[in-house]
Amino acid sequence: MKKFSILIICLFGYFSTQAQSSKIPSSVENVEKKVDSVLALMTLEEKVGQLVQYNGSWDLTGPASELGNKQKEENLKKGMVGSMLNVLSVEATTEAQKMVMENSRLGIPLMFGYDVIHGYKTMFPVPLGETASWDLKAMERSAQIAALESVAHGVNWTFSPMIDISRDARWGRIMEGSGEDPFLTSQVAVAKIKGYQGEDLADPKTIAATAKHFAGYGLAEAGRDYNTVHLGENELHNTVLPPFKAAANAGVATFMNSFNDLDGTPATGSKYLQRDILKGAWEWKGFVVSDWGSITEMVNHGFARDKKHAAEIALKAGSDMDMEGGAYEAGLVELVKEGDLDERLIDDAVKRVLRVKFKMGLFEDPYRYSDPEMAKNLNMEEHLKVARDVARKSIVLLKNENDLLPLKPSGKTTIAVIGPLADDKDTPIGNWRAQGETNSAVSVLEGVENAVGKEVKVTYAKGAALGVGERSFLMPLKINKNDRSGFAEAIKKAKSADLVIMVLGEDAFQSGEGRSQVNIGLEGLQQELLEAVSKVNENIVLVLINGRPLEITWSSENIPAIVEAWQLGSESGNAIADVLFGKYNPSGKLPVSFPRAVGQEPLYYNQKNTGRPFNPEHVTYSAYTDVEKDALYPFGFGLSYTTFEYGDLELSSEEMDADSELTVTVPVKNTGKVIGKEVVQLYLRDLVASTTRPVKELKAFELVELQPGETKEVKFTITEEMLQFYNADKEWASEEGEFQVMVGGNSRDLKVESFRFN
Ligand code: NOJ
Repeated sequence: MKKFSILIICLFGYFSTQAQSSKIPSSVENVEKKVDSVLALMTLEEKVGQLVQYNGSWDLTGPASELGNKQKEENLKKGMVGSMLNVLSVEATTEAQKMVMENSRLGIPLMFGYDVIHGYKTMFPVPLGETASWDLKAMERSAQIAALESVAHGVNWTFSPMIDISRDARWGRIMEGSGEDPFLTSQVAVAKIKGYQGEDLADPKTIAATAKHFAGYGLAEAGRDYNTVHLGENELHNTVLPPFKAAANAGVATFMNSFNDLDGTPATGSKYLQRDILKGAWEWKGFVVSDWGSITEMVNHGFARDKKHAAEIALKAGSDMDMEGGAYEAGLVELVKEGDLDERLIDDAVKRVLRVKFKMGLFEDPYRYSDPEMAKNLNMEEHLKVARDVARKSIVLLKNENDLLPLKPSGKTTIAVIGPLADDKDTPIGNWRAQGETNSAVSVLEGVENAVGKEVKVTYAKGAALGVGERSFLMPLKINKNDRSGFAEAIKKAKSADLVIMVLGEDAFQSGEGRSQVNIGLEGLQQELLEAVSKVNENIVLVLINGRPLEITWSSENIPAIVEAWQLGSESGNAIADVLFGKYNPSGKLPVSFPRAVGQEPLYYNQKNTGRPFNPEHVTYSAYTDVEKDALYPFGFGLSYTTFEYGDLELSSEEMDADSELTVTVPVKNTGKVIGKEVVQLYLRDLVASTTRPVKELKAFELVELQPGETKEVKFTITEEMLQFYNADKEWASEEGEFQVMVGGNSRDLKVESFRFN
C-alpha cells in the first residue's frame, strides 16, 4: 500500500475536517471542493496526463499509435495517463490501475472505456434494430445489463450511445445509431443513458456513458465514412443537436467529438460546438473525449500544421481528452510554457475529468470495478431471456400477403431454410460486438428447429456463401460473386418443400465503422439465388439480417412475406422463430426509411416541401423520373398479425397559446383476431414560419396493446415546447400561426387536423 500516497494524505487532511471520516465522501455537493483540492496538488505535467487516453494492447479499434507498450507502461507509472480504452478483463484493468496507484505520485485512478455498443457479452440487437422496438423501457433494460456485464469485467465507461442522425443507408455506421429522426433518437439517448448510468454513477453496477459523435458525423457526404459534412446552422440545430441536448440534460458523463469536417472546421477543433454550445449554452459539466486520433487528424484535414498545433486548437476548442492521438502529451506542456496556451484552460479540462472520476467513486475505491467474483455471479440466463425479448420486439414485419405469416406447420409440412445467413451463428452478433463471442448467436435454422419440434420436417441449404476468405473488424468483407455450386441443392430443397424461409442480408462486418457501400441491395449472389428459388416455390418468407436499410424493391414486388430482422444479437434465431410462428406478434416500426433505389439516398421522411413539391402533369417538380420519390417502406412503418384502425382526431380546442395545452385524442381499434401492439405516432407541421420547416416531424409516440376488437382512446398533449425550433433569429422559439397535427401508425398514413398557435 505504498500509494494512496500524497493525494490520499492531503485529501484525508481536507476531508477529515469536512466529513469526520477517513473515506472520501461521495456526496455530490462536495465534488467541486474535492476536485479543486486535487487540482491544487497537481503539476502541469500531471494535469496534462489526465487528458491523455491510451489504448490497451488487447483490441485495436483504430490505427495503432507510435507508442510501444513499454513506453505506455512507463507513462502509466508516472501518472501521465487519465484513462485507457480496450483493456478487457478484471485482471488487466486491475493491473493497469495498480501501475498508476502504486507508482505515480498522486495515484489518480484511471477510467476504463470500451465500445459497449449493444451489449458486452450478451448481445442485444444492433442499435438501429433495437430502436425499431420503440420500446424505451426495453432499451433501458438492455443498457442496464450491458453495464452490469461491463463492470464485472473491469470496464466502467462505455462509448455509447451513438446518437448521430443518419439519413443515408450507404453510411455503414447507420447501424450504430437510432436512424433518421431527432425526436426518436433523443428518446432512445435518454433511455440508454439511464440504463448505463442508473440513478447515481457511484453505484458500482453502473457505467459512465458517452454521447457521440459531436457533431454531424452521420451526415457525411455521399455516405462515405469520415467524409466532409456540409450542414447549415439551421439544420445543425434543428436536426443534429437535439439528441445531444437531450443527452446533456439527462446527465451523460462524457461526450465524444467526431472525425468530420463540419462546414470548414473539424468538429474536434470546433469551439462553437464544444465551448459555445455544449459547455456554454447547455452548461454541461462532463468532459469531452476526442475520437480515436481525431486531434492529430486535424493535420490531415489541413487545419493544423503539426501535432502540437493540433493540440493547441483542440484544447482551446474544448476537447478535453486525447484518445490515442499522442497530441496532448506531445504538445500541451510546451504550449503552456511558451505562453501559447492559458493553463486555466487545462485546469478546466482536468477538473471535468476529475469530476467524473469522483462521481464514479473511483477516489473512494480505485478497485471498485476489480472484483473477479462478480462475473461468476452474473445471471447470464436471465440476460439471454431479456436479449430474446428485446430482439423479438425489434423485428419489423414489412410485408405479409394473404396472411402467409404466422406459420402454422402441421406434421406433414416441410420447411426449407435457405440462404447464406440461414445457419450463420455469427452475423446476428453484428459489428461492434464487444466481447460477444464469435459464432455464439442462435441461428435462424436453430431457431426454426427449436420452434417446430420433431414432427415438422426442416431441410436446409446454404445456396451460396455471402463472403469469401477471412472476416475481420478492420478489413472489408470480400463478397462471393462467382461460387454458385450450392444453387442446385438449394433449388432442389425449395422445390420439395411446402414453404421456404429464405435468410439473406448482410454480413456482420458489412456495416459499422468504415463500411460505407454504394450498393445496398442483396449483395453477391443473393438476389440471383432468391430469384432462382422463387421460380420453384412461391411460398417464400424472406428474413432479412442486416445493419442498414437495404434496397429490396424486387423482393417487395415478388416475395409474399418479408421480415426485417436486423442483427438481433445472441438470441436472434429464437426471436425470429417467435415471430415466424406467431408466439410473438410483431410490433416493430422502422426507425429509418427503406429506399426504392440507392440513388434516393439520403432519404428521410422529415424533408422540406421545396418550392415545387408535386405536379404529376410534367417533370419540372422535385422528384425522379425513374422511380417514385418517396420511400419503399417509410419511417415508422411496420405491420402486425392484426390490423389497427385509426378514428378521426379530436382536438380539445382549435387554438392554443404558450400558457395552454392542446389535447389530441384518437381512437385506435384492433380490428383483427389477435392481441397486438401498435406504436401510435404523432407528427406536427408548422405551415408558415421564419425559416422553412419539414413537412412533418415526429413529436410524440405511444406503444399501446389492444385485445381483438378493443378500442383505446390514445391521448397526446401538445405543449408550446413541442412547437419550438431554431428560427431565423437563431433562437429556440415557437412562432404563431397554423399547425397541422397528424396521427397514425407510420409516417405516411396519417389522420390530419389543424390548430392555431397564438
Ligand atoms: C473510433 C469510433 O469512431 C468511435 O466511435 C469509437 O468509440 C472509438 N473508435 C474507440 O474504439
